[in-house]
Amino acid sequence: MITLRTENLHGIPSPHGIQKQEMTDSNFQIPDLLHQISSRNVGFHDIELLKSHLPKIQKLADQQEGKFQNIVILGIGGSALGPICIKHAFSNPFLQNPPNLHIVDNIDPRLIYDLEKSIQLKTTLFVVITKSGTTPETISQYLYFKERIKNANLAPQNHFIFITDPTKGYLREITNSEKIPALEIPPNIGGRFSVLTAVGLFPAALLKINIQEMLDGASEAQKSFTSTDPTQNIPFQIALIQYLLYKKGKTINVMMPYLNRLERFSAWYGQLLAESIGKKFDNHGNIVHSGITPVNALGATDQHSQTQLYNEGPNDKLIMFLTCEDYGHTLEIPRLDPPLPSLEYLKHTSFNELIQLEQKGTELAYTQNHRPNITIQIDKLSPHTLGELFMTMESATAFLGEMLNINTYDQPGVELSKELTKTFLLKK
Ligand code: PA5
Repeated sequence: MITLRTENLHGIPSPHGIQKQEMTDSNFQIPDLLHQISSRNVGFHDIELLKSHLPKIQKLADQQEGKFQNIVILGIGGSALGPICIKHAFSNPFLQNPPNLHIVDNIDPRLIYDLEKSIQLKTTLFVVITKSGTTPETISQYLYFKERIKNANLAPQNHFIFITDPTKGYLREITNSEKIPALEIPPNIGGRFSVLTAVGLFPAALLKINIQEMLDGASEAQKSFTSTDPTQNIPFQIALIQYLLYKKGKTINVMMPYLNRLERFSAWYGQLLAESIGKKFDNHGNIVHSGITPVNALGATDQHSQTQLYNEGPNDKLIMFLTCEDYGHTLEIPRLDPPLPSLEYLKHTSFNELIQLEQKGTELAYTQNHRPNITIQIDKLSPHTLGELFMTMESATAFLGEMLNINTYDQPGVELSKELTKTFLLKK
């Protein structure tokens, strides 16, 4: 379950805080915003659509069991950040248990060389994820490993699985001609909104994460998203806070989880916020150059690198803490024997209390310095709460885009650099 704490924000005086009344006085009506979102025909919040893909995803994942030592995901942007986040959320970073899941979201030749040197093709499955089926980074990775598989006399249909659009793109074409097993990304769900499709759920299922529970959590968030009562609608409240602060010059949003396992959630959210909200034009064609700059931070680690800036630097940020009540394990910090007066503050303390109190201390310091901050709290990290978090932030982004009167779902800036790269390659 997710709860949103906003009391610090309401306690910070104008112009840096947001009084409760300001939120109530906003002209935004949830039914209107929901109507605008539904008129865009986007499917990320369509729980029935997401659920309808579950059996096929689970079945294909189950069929891979025990076959591979390494699973390599080839993809970039929205086709990689979700799987990276999911893997990070449910893996022990100090252990490698086969199948090892590697997510290769770059074309740095050294990275690809290092990967190739570390795997045996015979015991490797490549999962190629691209919604458009044409992204040069992903397609070139695929071509590279396709040739390696061919040269090793291995059957491509046993070593590749594609996740792509049901009808469009190069990958879909060869799915059909070369009989490569494939899963579909629904046409109305774009890259950065696709984590709850096969893009995120298939890698999750390969890691034995309960994907049904992830969608149950998403479903809970979706109920909040469609509630017309603002006090029950967490995505609406988050978006409204982001919007009101943006209008007050807070153009940077820092996401700061106090859970190591959610460190990569910030990177996933960073793409969602940056690509969805950073737009030159509004819906009427006016030049607006809208945008909020996402910044990733990790508590408590970044208390010792970024917190100084956030407390005393420019007051241009909203800090979004991500916290949990229960870390799943309680670890006591042993008391020094004989006790040392300067370390007595640690007596009878656990790591759990320490990290939670450090978060509270940081929150209070920001508030005293009039630095706007909110806290998104989960009870415990689980497939359910991660699904809920994904859907909450996707829905909040959808609301924010409508409040800003922009198209949340396109990315002409990304497309432009893709096109220019192709032009250079063709001229070469
Ligand atoms: O959100 C988006 O649409 C993009 O960031 C894409 O995820 C990214 O460009 C990769 O595209 P594709 O999945 O088509 O390879």
